[in-house]
Amino acid sequence: MANSNLAAAKSAKNDEFYTQWADIEREMNAYLEFDSDFFRDKVVLLPCDDPEWSNFAKFFALHFTEYGIKKLISTSYAPNSNPGISDYQPTLFEIESPGFDESKTHENGKKFVLERQDFSGDGRVDIDDLQWEYLQGDGDFRSIEVSALRDEADIVVTNPPFSLFREFMTWLVEGRVRFSVIGNPNAITYREVFPLIQENKVWLGRKGSGGNTWFSVPASRIIEIKKKTHRVTDDGNVQAGIKAVWFTNIEHGRRHEPLQLMTMADNIKFSKHKGVRGSEYKEYDNFDALEVPFTDAIPSDYNGVMGVPISFLDKYNPDQFEVLGSTEGDYPSTKKYRQKKRVVNGVPQKSNTGTMSGVVREEAFGKGTYFDVGYPVRAIYKRILIRHRSETNGNLRVLIDGVAGIHDMPEDRSTESLSIEKVTDGLGNTHLVAKEGSTD
Ligand SMILES: C[S@@+](CC[C@H](N)C(=O)[O-])C[C@H]1O[C@@H](n2cnc3c(N)ncnc32)[C@H](O)[C@@H]1O
Repeated sequence: MANSNLAAAKSAKNDEFYTQWADIEREMNAYLEFDSDFFRDKVVLLPCDDPEWSNFAKFFALHFTEYGIKKLISTSYAPNSNPGISDYQPTLFEIESPGFDESKTHENGKKFVLERQDFSGDGRVDIDDLQWEYLQGDGDFRSIEVSALRDEADIVVTNPPFSLFREFMTWLVEGRVRFSVIGNPNAITYREVFPLIQENKVWLGRKGSGGNTWFSVPASRIIEIKKKTHRVTDDGNVQAGIKAVWFTNIEHGRRHEPLQLMTMADNIKFSKHKGVRGSEYKEYDNFDALEVPFTDAIPSDYNGVMGVPISFLDKYNPDQFEVLGSTEGDYPSTKKYRQKKRVVNGVPQKSNTGTMSGVVREEAFGKGTYFDVGYPVRAIYKRILIRHRSETNGNLRVLIDGVAGIHDMPEDRSTESLSIEKVTDGLGNTHLVAKEGSTD
């Protein structure tokens, strides 16, 4: 196999992870706890979901009436276009269906639609009332056909192929839809994703980024069962445990819970973290910011910029903090180093490659990765740069869809001269925006 094919096959295999019912339920419940009518009268699209395999379609079909959904559309990707599927056999459901077509079953995607019509005549609308047909093309989410379904939809929910996550995110944003999709936590710092998080247009779902999520893996697609990353359920299904988060622009309560924090002095006195208790917080050598190694060690009384671990986003409350950038190149560093020598566990390395995004000056080289820049600096893992929200940071608290939110304030504003204007955005949401100049 040519190298590129091998890589394609490997990444395709990595795309075949099927989401557990309980994970979908937990996430959707968080949106419904916030707004019990969230799905009411909405068109919901599941664009990478064959109901025969995917729990997403089954889940939404089961809750179709209870959630008040207007129309559910689920599309699947053609087996012949999917290098992750080498052993495709149509199911009995498809073969016995009047629409079955021997060639299209391999070449074409499928579209499944559930509307408020009891086709089966059993007195309820559920999965038995799904109507299906072959798509014209292979069901690629980027196709004109599936993009048109996205444009018809109000809400898109799925676990898309991780290998196409950047494109998938761009496709969602282009469609100006509400969405909730599963991705790898690494995607947080993708250039297609991070600016959206910064602008408060995308955030993490209820689950956050901690721990592994278990996905079913079709037995035929398992290269090797590894004890650490796989488990076999009582009914013989193989599941892979991988890091996954939900990326969404749907409101849920967790992101409006304020983080309870201690002052810097109290952190130094009482923090449960050895690296914080009894030590001074350090400034970066190359960013005008304070290094904060743990989210729960963010000092409540520090008004400057702070570098925090990416898992901060699990607790991020936009009413409490603003996200300014990351140490990955989208925030201005204050220093460029002429030379850098990598030193690991005190030993200079032959190769000096390695990111030097945020570094902290130290007295001497110690355990872990350091750089010699004429003096020792300790390499800090990727960090998100944040700042407390406060009047002194030039922000004003206003309401967004009835939820307290924050908008930047003109620097020379006086509160009396502000008028509050109602603005409706492209998604039909109302924002109250503070503007200079009074209304009368
Ligand atoms: C990670 S799996 C998840 C399946 C299902 N959404 C679930 O969570 O159970 C991603 C699925 O996307 C589909 N897929 C791969 N490439 C695609 C593409 N370009 N367009 C649409 N779907 C694609 C594959 O069929 C694959 O099963």
